[in-house]
Amino acid sequence: MSTNILEVQDLTKTFPGVKALDNVNFKVKKGEIHCLCGENGAGKSTLMNVVSGVYPHDSYTGKVIFHGKETRYKTVKDSEKDRLAIIHQELALSPYLPIFENIFLGHIKTKAGIIHWDRLIIDSRPYLKRVGLDEDPETIVSKLGVGKQQLVEIAKALSKNVELLILDEPTSSLNDDESDKLLDLILELKKEGITCIMISHKLNEVLKIADTITILRDGMSIDSYDTTETEVTEDLIIKGMVGRDMTHRFPEKTAVVGETIMEVEDWTVFHPEYHSRKVVDNVSFNLKKGEILAFCGPMGAGRTELMMSLFGKAYGSASTGTLKIRGQEHDFKNPMEAIRNGLGYVSEDRKDLGLILIQDVKTNISNSSLSKLSRFGVVNKDQEIIEAENYRKSLNIKTPGIEQMVRNLSGGNQQKVVLSRCLLADPEIFIVDEPTRGIDVGAKYEIYTILNDLAAQGKSIIMISSELPEAIGMADRIYVMNEGEIRGVLDRDEASQEKIMQIALRSR
Ligand SMILES: Nc1ncnc2c1ncn2[C@@H]1O[C@H](COP(=O)(O)OP(=O)(O)O)[C@@H](O)[C@H]1O
Ligand SMILES: [Mg+2]
Repeated sequence: MSTNILEVQDLTKTFPGVKALDNVNFKVKKGEIHCLCGENGAGKSTLMNVVSGVYPHDSYTGKVIFHGKETRYKTVKDSEKDRLAIIHQELALSPYLPIFENIFLGHIKTKAGIIHWDRLIIDSRPYLKRVGLDEDPETIVSKLGVGKQQLVEIAKALSKNVELLILDEPTSSLNDDESDKLLDLILELKKEGITCIMISHKLNEVLKIADTITILRDGMSIDSYDTTETEVTEDLIIKGMVGRDMTHRFPEKTAVVGETIMEVEDWTVFHPEYHSRKVVDNVSFNLKKGEILAFCGPMGAGRTELMMSLFGKAYGSASTGTLKIRGQEHDFKNPMEAIRNGLGYVSEDRKDLGLILIQDVKTNISNSSLSKLSRFGVVNKDQEIIEAENYRKSLNIKTPGIEQMVRNLSGGNQQKVVLSRCLLADPEIFIVDEPTRGIDVGAKYEIYTILNDLAAQGKSIIMISSELPEAIGMADRIYVMNEGEIRGVLDRDEASQEKIMQIALRSR
């Protein structure tokens, strides 16, 4: 029998107007990897913030028991003394200090009041080695990517002899490769006896590393599974997270596919810097009214480049080929021209390209349609508010109001703001690049419903997707790309993950 390192009993925590945690019970065994799952807003971060003293003892009811003793933390500092560390979604390093200082910040050892900097550099090396970070300790943290910064945070926790490490959605901004490395590191730490709680909504990751999985929903602890005893599947977790059976992970498509609306022939795109390198090679495809097309293929297959170049040459140094919309040939010089002719584009990276995080929901929605909302260059503020309110309601954007800063919204709701903005320009053809990346299952379903509704209204949709089940579940036809070429096309009925992979990878 392993003992519990952490036990949470009947925990309730409210914020003004929200019961974030409602009588939660939660147990973590010593030495295990415990994954905490739940949709956005389920209360995962709040629970971990209570456990680690971010929220002080007098701000909640119920008990947190660590190593058999009730904790009454006033601040995070108190939990650190107990060898508990939390790494938040937003990293908390000092960007302009070097790695080694960040590791020891707050607990720098001095000798008779003097800091021995050289010593610190030397002392930091074993920690960097343990987390597999191959960088000079004197490197300034802001020079590192997110993945490496996270490793510095873990090194910092290790330098404090952490016993319970809490990671809040650690892989949400990492690529697949970085994520794999991080998961391997967590497994390594487990071997060293460190207990880890990881919040994640990426179920493949959860199933890969979890010893125990706890599911929160609407602030309540729903289920807890020991993966050594129960065979836990993605479907089982999803069911717990959303509170209903997700045999229908994709909404029913009701749209009727009509005549051809867009035709692309022999489209070739050259790299923006290496002008002789073909990124898209002689691609031809067509899109029909009411149709959802998916473009699948491995990273670097050229899908985004193809679509961006069609969208008013937003990518590439040059392109050749023909683009026809409703039979008429077009040569868009820039994205504005594409938008005026009925194209809309929702880019993959909401944060970099799509949204202005420091602006409110309303401004973000109206952003690219200011010409529609303005007369003689003056924006009609009332109209802006009406339109934004309409979208908030129709797309069910969860925000306290349209004046809310977009950065405070969850990923799924940010995506809805981007979609709203695109919708406001009323395009006939929507290009959406990885529309559900990084958002949880419930929000995914809502995005799928929005796309289906658009198709039902006679709009046409091109969806770039790296999730094959999503492509198969949503699309009428699936184009498979690799190395800049279209390698094949499948109808919805004949598509399977295996077939798509085979087409993508077969050599020519
Ligand atoms: N500081 C806060 N002030 C007010 N409400 C909050 C605060 N933090 C979280 N909430 C609310 O509490 C609920 C749980 O949020 P959170 O713990 O962040 O969920 P999760 O991490 O599972 O996405 C949500 O309804 C959220 O809006
Ligand atoms: Mg959270």
